[in-house]
Order: sequence, then C-alpha cells, then structure tokens
Amino acid sequence: MPRYLVAAAPREALPITPLVKAELKGWLAGPGAALRGWVESTGFAAKPGELSLVPGRTGKLARVLVGCEAHDELWALAALPQTLPQGVYRLDAALAPQAATKAALGWALGTYRFQRYRKKTRPLATLAWPKGADRTAVERAADGIFLARDLINTPASDMGPAELAEAASALARRHRARIEVIEGERLLARNYPLIYAVGRASARAPRLIDLVWGEKSASKLTLVGKGVCFDSGGLDLKPASGMLIMKKDMGGAATMLGLASMVMAAGLPVRLRLLVPAVENSVSGNAMRPLDVVKSRKGITVEIGNTDAEGRLVLADALTEADSERPAMILDCATLTGAARAALGPELPALFSNDDKLANELLRHGEAEEDPLWRLPLWRPYRAMLESKTADINNISDTSFAGSVIAALFLEEFVSPRAPWVHIDSYAWNAKARPGRPEGGEGLAMRALFAMIAERFGGRNTESARANPESTESPPHPAPGKARLRLANPSQPSPPRRGRG
Ligand code: BES
Ligand code: MN
Ligand code: ZN
Repeated sequence: MPRYLVAAAPREALPITPLVKAELKGWLAGPGAALRGWVESTGFAAKPGELSLVPGRTGKLARVLVGCEAHDELWALAALPQTLPQGVYRLDAALAPQAATKAALGWALGTYRFQRYRKKTRPLATLAWPKGADRTAVERAADGIFLARDLINTPASDMGPAELAEAASALARRHRARIEVIEGERLLARNYPLIYAVGRASARAPRLIDLVWGEKSASKLTLVGKGVCFDSGGLDLKPASGMLIMKKDMGGAATMLGLASMVMAAGLPVRLRLLVPAVENSVSGNAMRPLDVVKSRKGITVEIGNTDAEGRLVLADALTEADSERPAMILDCATLTGAARAALGPELPALFSNDDKLANELLRHGEAEEDPLWRLPLWRPYRAMLESKTADINNISDTSFAGSVIAALFLEEFVSPRAPWVHIDSYAWNAKARPGRPEGGEGLAMRALFAMIAERFGGRNTESARANPESTESPPHPAPGKARLRLANPSQPSPPRRGRG
C-alpha cells in the first residue's frame, strides 16, 4: 500500500500547480501580482522538473509550482515526495481521471526507498488523492512494482533460490494461490535437466517455482521469469565489472512476480500460472562445463557453448512446461543478454514475439502507460548460428552479432508455433536515478503488460474499462495531431490564501 497518499486533504494542504513552459505566461495573468512578481524575480520558467517554492505573506511555504512536459502525465510529480518539505499537498489542476490516476501513481512510485538494511527516517511529502484518480489501480501497480524493486535490490546473499521461492509463497498465501516448489535433485526426477544443470554447482539448491491461481475453466495465462539469483557466469566466469550487478539476474522473475501480484489483486478472470526457475549460476567442482551436452525437458539435446548463457537454459525447461498445457498466452521476462542493452540501452526492454497482433498491442499499451518497449525481430535466418556439431542445438552462436535475437531464437525452440508468445529481454535496473525511478532494481514493462492482459482477458471488470469508458467506440490512442490528455492545463488558481502559511 503506498503511504504518503491520504484520502482527505486537510485544510492546510498546499497546492501544487503543474505548469507547462509554453503556458506559464498565460497562466500568470490569473493569480495576482504577488505570485507574478515571485515567478518573474526568481526566474522560474516552468522547465521540466523545475520547482518553485512560493512563500505566503508570513514567509512560510504557501504553494508549489512545478514545470512539466505536456506529454508526461506519469512522472511530472514523481520527484516531489522526496524533494518537497514534509507536509500534505494537493494538486491544483483539473485532470481527466486517467491523468489523475497517472499523477497519483507517479507520486506513489516516487515514495519508494529500499529500506531493508538502512532505514531512512526522513518523512516524505504526502499528496491528497487527486480527484478522479483510480485508487485501487494505483495501489496494485505500486504494490507490484515495489515488490519487484525490493526483490531485485536485495543482495544475492539474502535472495537466493530459497528466498525467491519464499517470496513467491508469500504472494501465493496473500492471494490464496496454489504453489509447488520442485527442489534440488527432484528436478531431475521431474525432468527439468537444464534447470538442474545450471543450478547444481551452488550450495543453494536450484528449484522450479510453480504458482497457480484462478478458476480452472478461465483462459490460461502463463508467466515465466528468469530467476538467476546470482550470475557469476559459471566456469566461463564473468570479469568483476560484468559480475558487479548480477544480483539483478532474477529481475525477470521479480517482474513476473510483481505482474502476477497485479493480476491477482485486480481479480482478472484468468487461470494464471507463474513459472520461475530459481537458480544460482556458480562455480564449483560439479559445475556444468563448456561443451557439456544436456538433454532438455523437451528432449532436444543442448551443447553448452558457454556456461554464462545460462538464462536461456533454465528458461528452456520452464517454457517447455508452460507450453505443455497450451495456454492462451505465454509471457516471459528475463535479464537475458548484454546485447539487448547494447542495442536499446537500459530503459527500453526488447520485445520479441511470434504474434504480430500481440506485439503491437503491447507496444501500444507501453506507449499509453509511459512504460515503453521496443520490438526486435525473431529473425529466423539467424537460427543457423545456433547449430551444434555435437548436439541438436548450441546455447550460443560463434559470432557476436545480434546476441539478443539469437537468445530469443534459442527460446523459441521450446515453445510451439501455435502458442502466442512474448519474450521480454529487460535490464530490470535503473542505471541512473530519474523521478520516480531511483537507481537500482526496476520492474520495466510491468504496467504495459498488465494493461495488455486486462484488455485481452479482463472484460469489463478492469482498469482500462473503467478508466476509459468509451474505449469500445474510440481508438485508444488519439489521432495524430489531436491533443492527448495532459497533466498540465491547470485550473486558474486562487491567489495564496491569506493569514495562513
Ligand atoms: N545475465 C546475463 C545477461 C546480462 C548481462 C544482462 C549484463 C544484463 C546485464 C546473461 O546470463 C549472460 O551472461 N549473457 C551473456 C550471453 C553470452 C555468453 C552469449 C551475455 O550477454 O554476454
Ligand atoms: Mn550469464
Ligand atoms: Zn544471466
């Protein structure tokens, strides 16, 4: 539950006015000479992110002006909870319900701090829920994203396969889901040889987490997340610089746990299944070796060209199992390749799909939710690069070209062509802090995925159906050139109230 959002604005709540640069001049005509004088003499220009703390008559803070971009509804306020003086604020802007929801979500996400090892006690600024905001939508998104961030930020010493499984169990308990965890050598008995091969060298036993929730008869939606709790590279050991942030190699699992939490909290009419191969890619005498051959769950033999290409191995067995019950949709998320980062940088997860319609829906929702993805191709001619002289397939190619495409093509071997499948290669990490997105673990694409799922499976009982009641008549995106909903465009403010603040 996000704190720092309160239902009722107390009388002394200070107004926050979001302003777009181009509209500042016109807006200043309204609120009186004192405010105009303050803005002009301090040089506030409403540049995106620029803040002005406006004093009232007694010199105390009376109102806040914040510059923002017209198209940014989500992040415009997200820096404020941690930068404004402690206190209660209210939005001084007339917002459409969707924009109000986004503004509140931005605020909620801006209150995140990773507190496990060092409690920061500085109280943050509080916002009164903006009028029209969908509270439950904000709370379930913030809960899901905070869960993902916490799981990723927790160091590998406290977030091994067992702890990741425990996090999934806690989530299952909260939503009365069924959960099974297949652990250690039982993975061999149950035919998950690749998961076992990757995880067996660690003192912390590998496992497959299998969570099921919802009505048996509902459409089957299966989520798969890469849960490599630490990726040392295995015998093909990573250099120190490459190993540094590999506690985040379970970021795909964290993303899918967070997404599962959102789906269950929303009560979407799906039969949800979440599969997480949870392993640690370690070095020891019994570690998987380069050029070992492992027969996968599917029966395909895999030559281990590189022990550091472990994510695709554990996912292969999990995807085989996901595919076996022919769900309506399979979504996987993984911190799979450095190459996806070389191609798109840390902020844009790479999207691969064997289903153009599904891919386009996801791209559209990503844009609408300000949670973007970028599609890369499952370029079949490159499949030849995975050929092995010894086994059915190699886990790497012998060139350095198109690494994320090659990895996606490897995964594709383990899903049937009939299955609508999406693979997301995510960085799951903010390389630098931005408003609402502190440096560290991040659940990229979660909101885009949820919106797509809600639209596909949700019927009427969903966020998008409620927040966008005309969605059946009007296209979800405004036509080019038409104004989008905007956070700025504030109502004309009253001058700072006298005698207070
Ligand atoms: N977990 C890494 C990928 C990764 C590295 C993601 C850095 C984000 C940041 C993955 O297991 C890996 O090591 N991939 C190798 C594959 C290679 C050996 C074919 C890579 O990308 O270098
Ligand atoms: Mn690796
Ligand atoms: Zn990895």
